[in-house]
Order: sequence, then structure tokens, then C-alpha cells
Amino acid sequence: MHIDSARRDQLQEWEKELSAQYQRICQHELNLDITRGKPSADQLHLSDKLDGILNGDYRAADGTDTRNYGGIDGLACARNLGADILQVPSEEVMAGGNSSLTMMYHAVLTGYLFGFAGNTPWREMQAPKFLCPVPGYDRHFSICEQLGIGMVNVPMTEHGPDMDVAEALVRDDQEIIGIWCVPKFSNPTGVTYSKETVDRLACLAQIANPGFRIFWDNAYAIHDLEHQVNLPSIRSATLENDTADSVLQFASTSKVTHAGAGVAFVSASAANLASLKKQMQAMTIGPDKVNQLRHSRFFAEFTMLKAHMQKHAQILKPKFECVLNQLNQAFGDSDLGEWEEPRGGYFVSFSTRPGCAAAVVKLAADAGVKLTPAGATFPYGKDPEDRNIRIAPSFPPLEELDTAMSVFVLCVKLASVRKQLESL
Ligand SMILES: Cc1ncc(COP(=O)(O)O)c(C=O)c1O
Repeated sequence: MHIDSARRDQLQEWEKELSAQYQRICQHELNLDITRGKPSADQLHLSDKLDGILNGDYRAADGTDTRNYGGIDGLACARNLGADILQVPSEEVMAGGNSSLTMMYHAVLTGYLFGFAGNTPWREMQAPKFLCPVPGYDRHFSICEQLGIGMVNVPMTEHGPDMDVAEALVRDDQEIIGIWCVPKFSNPTGVTYSKETVDRLACLAQIANPGFRIFWDNAYAIHDLEHQVNLPSIRSATLENDTADSVLQFASTSKVTHAGAGVAFVSASAANLASLKKQMQAMTIGPDKVNQLRHSRFFAEFTMLKAHMQKHAQILKPKFECVLNQLNQAFGDSDLGEWEEPRGGYFVSFSTRPGCAAAVVKLAADAGVKLTPAGATFPYGKDPEDRNIRIAPSFPPLEELDTAMSVFVLCVKLASVRKQLESL
């Protein structure tokens, strides 16, 4: 289908055919959901041996009795695990509780209330703002929105955030105090940042407010589907440019073991870790070291973690293939949409023709297929062009995903034809 070159009568004919197909699908009373990027039950089963793994032996290798209070940095063996995932030295890692998102929230709060490494707290500024590569992760944007921190969109390219735009914004506005980054298999575009992007990000601190911080959310650091994709090291890039204090890195085992019941990590320079710890010490006596020990025993070697991730990939790969096959078949030769073919992570990002995303989501919902709300991947839930839809293939069984994608494809066609007819 090529909508731009179609005549009105052709569009009217398509609309009639597609509407009839859509009516037939609505009669099936489907109830399918491809909204959130949750692991499937099959993936969760891969880690069920965590339960009981300690078998009464609660002592870590360094002698720590994990049942007792203390150790705000986390267990040494858990910090090693975080260091392996983030590819940084373990001295620069704190192992925490069950959620990296919570850690990010606390880190933003630290910058906001107290400032990092002796810099001005962001709350003392007139209009502190974060750069938000879009489309991006809705929960990052919710943190800023809740704290009243402004958000400025930066378009994502196939190499990461558009750095010309990011640099110009930072140069012009000294109240830009952060940027959200999902550098590997970005949520939702699946893009991995290029070396040039990472290098330019590492240099942002040279022109930004000294309190500026990069929030490097490496949630999909080890979530490759087939061949390993290498993310250039932001740590090395900042060390080379004397900007090591400008970055805070995050990761967790949420999509490695049991989602929401894993271990989260933050890695940063000594000065930043000291700022984080100062705030955390008032908040907690220490993390759940028992769970940290479970994870450290489960992944006694990094090779075990790698092998475990390959099992995830085996489950996820057919689901990504299903989504991409449907998109290629339906839209490969069309002007109805654009998408990336991610090599890992949890999402496929689809861009409709301008002004169609909300209509597609509504049509799909009425046909019994729940999609992530249009706009959710943008700050304040506002996609200026109403184009982006995030598809999350991981959770439903393959057959359900396939049906949901058939409905999705039909809804994209129908919404696009109707929109074009309206505009003629
Ligand atoms: C980019 C990104 N960061 C963080 C999270 C949540 O991580 P956690 O479970 O460690 O809080 C997700 C979950 O979807 C995510 O996509």
C-alpha cells in the first residue's frame, strides 16, 4: 500500500475492505495485551533455582553474615556481579535493593535536594530541566514530572540521541542538569549508542552546568538476542575527557532473574557515590544482602550469567521474529510506517504516519488488543507528531502475540487510510 500516491477512489475502496475485516475481528472478542515489557513465565522459570540456593548457608565468601543489618555498599560479591554487568571496577559499584528505577529516583532526588559532589542543588535553580531522548522510557519521564523538573525533547537517531541538538541545548541553557539515556537496546527504539555519540555525551559536562549528570540506565546491558552488540564504555570516555563525575550508571537483574525481585546496581565516581550514600544513610541501614547472596551464588561466574542470558534470548528471539515478520510483510513495501529491527532488549518501536498513533491504539483496544498508550514514550505523554507506538513482544505466548500483531497491522492500515481520506 502506498497511501501518498493513492487516488481517492482507491483509498475509499481500501477503507471499505479494511473496515469489513476489522468488523470481523471485533466479533472474536479478543483479550490480548502487548503493553508492558515484562518477562514471560517461561523466562521467569529460568531462575526458579534461586529459591533455596542458600540452603542454610548465609555467609558470604568474605565472612559477612547476610542475615544481619549493615553494609550500605552491598555485598562484595554482589558488587562484583554489578561490575561485570556494567563493565566497571567493583569499587565504583554499589549493590542495592530490588529496583534500579528506585535507585534512579533516589539519585535524581539527591541532585535535586542536596546536589552532587558539592554542586548547587537543582531545586535552587529557577527552571532545572532534563534532556529526554524521544521516544524514551515513560518511567524516567514520570520521575522528572513528579519532582517538577522540566523536560526537553531530543530526537533519537539510529546512533543514539541527536547530539547536535543536545549540545546546542546544553550550551544555551545552564539549567539543563541531566539527560536520560538507555544506551543499549534503548527503550523503546532498540538502538545502541555509537562510539561517536558516547564520546560526545562524555564531553557534554565541559559545556554544561557543573551539576549536570548523565543518567546512564543500562537496563539491557546483557540482553542481546543473538550476537553480542558492544556498547562503547561511557566510563572510559569520561575518564579520557576528565568528566568522570558527570555520569551515573544503573543496571539490575530484573530482566535476568525474577522481575522486581532481583538486585539493582549503581556505578559512579567516588564523589558521586559519596553524595548518594550520604542521602541513603538517612534512609536505610542497608540493602537485602540475603537476596544479593542468592544472586551471587546463582551467578558464581560471569560465564554463568552469559549462559543464562542465552536461554532468555532463545525464548525471546521467536517473539521478536514474529513481530518483525508481521511488520515486514505488511509494511515492507508501503509508506505506512517505520520501525527499527532491534538486536536485543525488550521492545520494537513503530512509527505510524503523522497523526495516526492514537487512532491505531484506540482501534486495537476496541478490537480487544491492548497497546501502550500513544504518547507514553514522550515526556508528559505528548507525542508532538502522534506517531510512536511501543510494541512489547516478551510477555504473551507466541500464538497470542501473532494474533495481536495481525490486529495491530490491520489497525495501522485502517487508521492510515482514514486519516488520508480526511485530509483530501
Ligand atoms: C529502561 C529501563 N530502565 C529500568 C527499568 C526498570 O528496572 P528495575 O526493575 O530494575 O527497576 C526498565 C523496565 O522496564 C526499563 O525498561
